Amino acid sequence: MAEGAVASEATRVFPLELERRYPVVVRGEGSWVEDSTGKRYLDAMSGGSMAATLGHGRHDVIAAGARQASTLSYVHNERVTNPPRERLAAELVEISPPGMTRVRFVTGGAEANETAVQMARSYHVERGDTKRWQVISPAQAYHGPTMATLGLTGRPGLQRPFGPYLPQHRHIPPSTWRFDPSGEAALAALDRVLEEVGPENVSAYFCEPISAAALPAYSPPERFWRGLAERREKHGFLICYDEVVTGIGRTGEWFAAQKLPLVPDIIATAKGLGAGYTAIGAVICADHVYQAFARGSRRFVVGHTWDGAPLSCAVGLEVLDVLRRERLIERVRAKGLALKTELAAALEGMPMVREVRGHGFLLGVEYVDPRDPRSFLQPELGVARRVDLTAMDKGLIVYSTMPTRDGFAGDQTLFAPPFTASDGDLSEMVRRFAETIRAVAMSIEGELS
Ligand SMILES: Cc1ncc(COP(=O)(O)O)c(C=O)c1O
Repeated sequence: MAEGAVASEATRVFPLELERRYPVVVRGEGSWVEDSTGKRYLDAMSGGSMAATLGHGRHDVIAAGARQASTLSYVHNERVTNPPRERLAAELVEISPPGMTRVRFVTGGAEANETAVQMARSYHVERGDTKRWQVISPAQAYHGPTMATLGLTGRPGLQRPFGPYLPQHRHIPPSTWRFDPSGEAALAALDRVLEEVGPENVSAYFCEPISAAALPAYSPPERFWRGLAERREKHGFLICYDEVVTGIGRTGEWFAAQKLPLVPDIIATAKGLGAGYTAIGAVICADHVYQAFARGSRRFVVGHTWDGAPLSCAVGLEVLDVLRRERLIERVRAKGLALKTELAAALEGMPMVREVRGHGFLLGVEYVDPRDPRSFLQPELGVARRVDLTAMDKGLIVYSTMPTRDGFAGDQTLFAPPFTASDGDLSEMVRRFAETIRAVAMSIEGELS
């Protein structure tokens, strides 16, 4: 690890992992960041969390924020509104799937998801259908670290030790190649849960249309989506998409919803809307959801201090403008395909690599035991952690996870570069990544038991 990295005993910060040493990143430009020792890293994770979709050091976005801040940086939305908030809502409706007509702003992804859950529940209450509260979602997912969003995942590894605080929602297994390639088992599981809890108590089905860190770049087969739409029609629950990562261009469409055979009732989005230049999220709903409030109490008053602030919305507007001006979504769509092919070719012939998945600039690599292409790697090997640390040594930032103990997925890596990364930078990311995986595969050879 680079010298200059900060260890937990040398800081007042309460770090995420106390045994890790964190490089101090001091600047960024395009797809590169630099630490305090001068070491440079290729950022194949758009700022680490997939938020920095336009790369680092975008002076146009910074200038738009500065202009707005010097006119009016902040007013709360409870008693007044402001021009950037009004314009950004209109633009988001414009780029959303057909039938989505209203936008509620929030500050981040978990807030967007919580607001979507509250909106879905309130929709039913507004219609006099007051029993509906339960949410059903795929178990292998991530929707945020707050109590309500932790309740939406079905992963004990993420929920511990907060179990006593979490709402008791229900989960179904993901329909991956390993357990359910056709999607039929997930639909059967959904039917079982609907019967157990009573469909009249179900408020929403909540999912990532294309998964991010939980199952990188995975999406259920078409049969599942069509079956889900049939069940919504029959039972009257809403469908909410967590597009915190996939929204605003990441998969080569404005929203991943536009790639699937099903229009959701509510979309929650965040990261790419601020592109790493501000904290902003949005909940976008279909007209029939809004109309339930319009014909009902005419109120939906939950909210946070920074929702719809002029500064955040002005940055969001400029981000959308850059995406259109530079035709970045078209680039992500076209280049994403080539990038997946390039990544798969670079990892070809490595028995530890089972699958390379991709939708636009959201790519995922799934690992298996090199001796048996169906088995997870032993958790004791800590492959995910080795991949990330080896990549950092080689000047590359990727994001790997090992949710093995939750039972649905093993070690895996997410690869999600900024949309603005040059062809040369993308190829160099792939080269460093393949080198990393080769080194990790060799390092575990003698340790497989
Ligand atoms: C799919 C997904 N949903 C929700 C969240 C939570 O967003 P935030 O960290 O902005 O609260 C994340 C964060 O990584 C995410 O990847």
